[in-house]
Amino acid sequence: MRAACTLIIVSGWLATAAGAAEPSVPRQQALVRMVRQDCGSCHGMRLTGGLGPALTPQALADKPLASMTATILHGRPGTPMPPWRALLDDADALWIATQLQHGFPEEPRAR
Ligand code: HEC
Repeated sequence: MRAACTLIIVSGWLATAAGAAEPSVPRQQALVRMVRQDCGSCHGMRLTGGLGPALTPQALADKPLASMTATILHGRPGTPMPPWRALLDDADALWIATQLQHGFPEEPRAR
């Protein structure tokens, strides 16, 4: 529990330090892990859909980046899609939306 809190504080600091620019490489790796694990619990392990819709490049081809970014930050009231702005800043959410539209990166192999 304490380790998780520290992680959130550290990643929040990294995001702030990076400003509005693209997230730093370590932050990007943290975001990949988070999307695969936390978002994957609803959107599917392969992001091909589950409780939430597919987040594949095909499914998202026509979606404006700005609206996807807003959905990630603010959630969709009245649906299970939760807001993530406590954990993600604008640059993080925009980066995730952009990666989803291009085919989300795999988690780097442990070891
Ligand atoms: C508790 C389940 C849940 C979690 C966790 C979740 N989502 Fe969602 N998400 C949904 C649902 C349900 C919808 C569809 C909402 C609707 O009906 O409009 C959705 C919609 C979306 C959309 C819009 C897709 C579209 O076709 O317009 C995006 C983008 C998205 N989620 C990204 C994410 C990301 C990124 C994360 C992790 C940071 C995440 N979601 C975590 C349930 C979830």
